[in-house]
Amino acid sequence: MAVDGAAAGVLRPHAEHAFARELGALRAADDRPRPPRWQLSPWGVATYLLGGTLPDGTVITPKYVGPRRIVEVAIATLATDRALLLLGVPGTAKTWVSEHLAAAVSGDSTLLVQGTAGTPEEAIRYGWNYARLLADGPSADALVASPVMRAMAEGRTARVEELTRIPADVQDSLITILSEKTLPIPELGQEVQAVRGFNLIATANDRDRGVNELSSALRRRFNTVVLPLPATPEDEIDIVSRRVDQLGRSLGLPTAPDGGDEIRRVVTVFRELRSGLTTDGRTKVKSPSGTLSTAEAISVVTGGLALAAHFGDGLLRPGDVAAGILGAVVRDPAADRIVWQEYLETVVRERDGWQDFYRACREVTR
Ligand SMILES: Nc1ncnc2c1ncn2[C@@H]1O[C@H](COP(=O)(O)OP(=O)(O)O)[C@@H](O)[C@H]1O
Ligand SMILES: [Mg+2]
Repeated sequence: MAVDGAAAGVLRPHAEHAFARELGALRAADDRPRPPRWQLSPWGVATYLLGGTLPDGTVITPKYVGPRRIVEVAIATLATDRALLLLGVPGTAKTWVSEHLAAAVSGDSTLLVQGTAGTPEEAIRYGWNYARLLADGPSADALVASPVMRAMAEGRTARVEELTRIPADVQDSLITILSEKTLPIPELGQEVQAVRGFNLIATANDRDRGVNELSSALRRRFNTVVLPLPATPEDEIDIVSRRVDQLGRSLGLPTAPDGGDEIRRVVTVFRELRSGLTTDGRTKVKSPSGTLSTAEAISVVTGGLALAAHFGDGLLRPGDVAAGILGAVVRDPAADRIVWQEYLETVVRERDGWQDFYRACREVTR
C-alpha cells in the first residue's frame, strides 16, 4: 500500500496526511448524509477504518482489524451528544483508532491532550500567555486555548489520551464541557460554546483502573467501547504484517520477501504466553508479567527486520527476532526468566520445525 503523505521527510505523518489520498477518494465517493461538520458520513468513516473498495476501484486499506460492530458503535457514538471512551489492555489500538476516527470525522487528529499524573487543568481548559497577561491584563489575545477549547469552537473532534492517569479534579473539568457543551472563561466574563460537530474521544487502559477511577458523573458522559485483543492468530498475524510493512516503509527498511514464518512464530509465542496455553490446547504454560501486546509483537518484528537488513542478508530469520522476544517476555529479570526458560524447554524445543528458533533463543537467553 502506498503511504500518500510520506513526503517532506516527516518521520510519522498524522493519519490525515498519511492517508490523504484514501480520505479524498472516500469524500468524493461518499454520498450519504453527513452529520454537521463531518468530513464523511458514518458509513464513510467505517469504510475508512475497516477498509473496502470504492466504486471507482480505489482500495481503502483496513486500519483497524476487529469486529465491525465495535467500530460502528464507536462512530455512532460520535454522532450523538455523548463522548466516546475507548477502553482496553495496552496495545489494543486505542490510540490508533482514536487518531484515525478523528482524522476521518474532522480531518484533523491533532487536537490532542496527553493525560499524565501531571496534566494541569489548563491543558483541558485554557491557559494564558503570561507576557501578554502582565502587559495588557486578561484579554482574548492573552488566552491560550487548549486543544479541547479549539475543538469546541471549530466543531471538531478532541482527543484525550490516557484519561484515567489524569488527577481526578482535573478530569472533572471535562464534566461541564461534556454535559453543558460550554467552557466558561470567568476572567473575561465570556464562554466558549461548542459548535455542532464537536465531540471528544478519550482512551484509557484497563490496567490503570483504580489509579484514578473515573468519577461516575464523568463516566455517564461517555459511551464506553472495549477494544479486545485480536480474536484469532490469523487476525493478529494480519495486523502485525500490515503494520510492520507500513513502519518498515517509513523507516526505509527493505521489505523482507519472506518474513511470514517469523511473524507467525512471534505471534504464536506471544499468544501462548499470554493465554497460558499452547495453540493445540495440550500444554499449560506460565504467563510472564508483561502484556505481550500486538503492539509489542510489531516492535519485535520491526526490530528484527532492521537487524536482517543491516547485519544479515535481508531475510528475516529466527536469530533476528529472538532477542526482541526475550526483551518483551523477560520484564522482571528473576520470575520472567524462569517462565521463559520453562516455555523454551517444554514447548519450543519439542516443536516440529522450530529447532533453528530454539537454538537462536538459547543463544540469547544464556
Ligand atoms: N486490532 C488491531 N487492528 C489494527 N492495528 C492494531 C490492532 N491491535 C493493535 N494494533 C497496532 O498496535 C499498535 C499499538 O496500538 P496503540 O493504539 O498504541 O495501543 P493502545 O493505545 O491500545 O495501547 C498500533 O500500531 C496498531 O496499528
Ligand atoms: Mg495508547
